[in-house]
Amino acid sequence: MKFVLKNIETVYKSLFLLFLINISFSQTKINEEVKFIISDLTKVKNFNGVISSENVLKISEEYGLDNDQIMELFRPYSKIYSKAPISNYNVGAVCKGASGNLYFGSNIEILNESLSFTLHAEQSAVVNAWSHGETNINFINVGGSPCGYCLQFLNELNQVDSLIIVNPKGKNYTISDLLTLPFGPKNLGIDGGLMLKNNNNLILENDSRDRLVLAALNAANMSYAPYSKGYSGIAVMTEDGNIFQGYYAENAAFNPSISPIEFVLSSLNLSGKSFNQIKKVVLVEKRSSKSSQINTVKAVLNKIAPHVKLNVVYCHKVE
Ligand code: THU
Ligand code: ZN
Repeated sequence: MKFVLKNIETVYKSLFLLFLINISFSQTKINEEVKFIISDLTKVKNFNGVISSENVLKISEEYGLDNDQIMELFRPYSKIYSKAPISNYNVGAVCKGASGNLYFGSNIEILNESLSFTLHAEQSAVVNAWSHGETNINFINVGGSPCGYCLQFLNELNQVDSLIIVNPKGKNYTISDLLTLPFGPKNLGIDGGLMLKNNNNLILENDSRDRLVLAALNAANMSYAPYSKGYSGIAVMTEDGNIFQGYYAENAAFNPSISPIEFVLSSLNLSGKSFNQIKKVVLVEKRSSKSSQINTVKAVLNKIAPHVKLNVVYCHKVE
């Protein structure tokens, strides 16, 4: 009798093991199929680092994947865009906007320039979402905890308390789990936050109707500069006539602020453009501010597109 029971136990154990092997096998198969779909989505003409909420929903329904699984499957595809000629350390991030769209982000380093011009993958994903009209992000995934600098950067977001940091290796985090005694906008008496809809009421000092100048003015109007009030924005035209914008984004701790040139390089990069395709650059900036982007933009351009001369147009704020 004992012998028979023992055998039945062994049979059940083996069946259970087979069941588990089967589950992980079919999960691997699903992941492989999804990877093909993602790869196809990123290869469409004019892909710019955005996956629509419809496509996200379709994949998750068809393959029974939850938000975190989807975000983790997309992450390696954003890493492909990383430009890290100094560290060779490629980072990809994915964030999800309130609309349900997914946004890629990848780190960018400027060879032969100061390391302080580096854009982190998380920053790149956030400005990607912002440039596509999002005013809030609900999730970000960089494969674990963002670095301290990025936590400080993310702490500037207007709805940072509801941000989920997806952790594929374990329990998800909130900012307050990782940044325990934060320094943020409130410490400097600022109520709003990054990604809120802005209009800084800037008007040009000249009456240019040039399309690129107006795009740079629009970028300056979108910029977030509550600390220095040095509102600024950039517009870049590529050889094929496309226009890309970059908004200046300040941070309460100052150093994690994003220059409009870093912002626009990220958009160009995620749209598959190389920096030597830059043809024209306009920077619109508020005159006599306590902070200026002119030298930073010139320094970066000098390294990535030395043939381009920066056109600076001043604006002022209508109070
Ligand atoms: N990096 C990121 O993009 N995100 C992080 O959270 C960690 C660091 C980048 C910055 C730099 O390009 C490279 O990794 C080495 O630090
Ligand atoms: Zn970082």
